[in-house]
Amino acid sequence: MSLFKWFKGRDPQTDPTRTALKIPQHIAIIMDGNGRWAQKHHLTRSFGHRAGAERLHDITDACGRLGVRYLTVYTFSTENWKRPDEEVQTLMNLFVEFFHKYDSSLKQNDVRLRFMGDKSALPASVQQTWEEAEAESFHRQGLQLILAFNYGGRQELIKAARQLAQDCCNQTLQPSQIDEQHVRSALFLPDVPDPDLLIRTSGELRLSNFLLWQAAYTEFWITDTLWPDFDEATLLEAIRAFSSRDRRYGAIKTTRG
Ligand code: IPE
Ligand code: IPE
Ligand code: MG
Repeated sequence: MSLFKWFKGRDPQTDPTRTALKIPQHIAIIMDGNGRWAQKHHLTRSFGHRAGAERLHDITDACGRLGVRYLTVYTFSTENWKRPDEEVQTLMNLFVEFFHKYDSSLKQNDVRLRFMGDKSALPASVQQTWEEAEAESFHRQGLQLILAFNYGGRQELIKAARQLAQDCCNQTLQPSQIDEQHVRSALFLPDVPDPDLLIRTSGELRLSNFLLWQAAYTEFWITDTLWPDFDEATLLEAIRAFSSRDRRYGAIKTTRG
């Protein structure tokens, strides 16, 4: 029998030889393709962003059920200010709407909300929602949903460099003492472990300034699916692929001869 036929005859759900599902502790997602989805459906870009926000709620729910501990989503990059004012406004409004609309369901699912990015440059309504959501959900024990909003990986590293430079000026730190732990402690959320799996929707093969430090050893999974079409089955496909990866962190595998 050809290898193709052998493989085709196997049901991935029941095949005992399939890799056991390893649930990543931390999943990061670049939720891309809202605009292309809207265009495909002859809708305006804001409809695409609205549909994208609904998917975020569904996927948060699915991750919570699967036992994922952290879900970090790229919601607005420091480069997204280059978009037309109207689109930027829509994205700011959606941020506020999302939390009001899903407040009770996130609470019911014990989801803790956290944020990373430059809050100071955002409209007052967004800053207020950000602070309220963070404070209200602080004690929740379930999934941590982290929104990267007005976030850029380079900007985060600049922030860290400034903080460490200040510590050196204050003589609380010597330049020669700076190690990975010092840099990490100056990032937005130092207590959050690095993502195990990074998903990017809509097929682009780039990081677009997302989690430059944290993604050093993250497994990437890219799909052509546009973010508003991303569902639990696609999420499981990504987790299945992740489960079969061999993470070596620069070492060599010792189990093989
Ligand atoms: C991602 O979708 C959402 C944000 C960047 C805010 P896009 O708006 O980038 O969608 P495309 O890439 O134009 O399809
Ligand atoms: C990345 O998507 C940012 C978010 C998903 C929020 P972009 O659509 O902005 O990225 P590029 O421009 O294709 O690199
Ligand atoms: Mg895009």
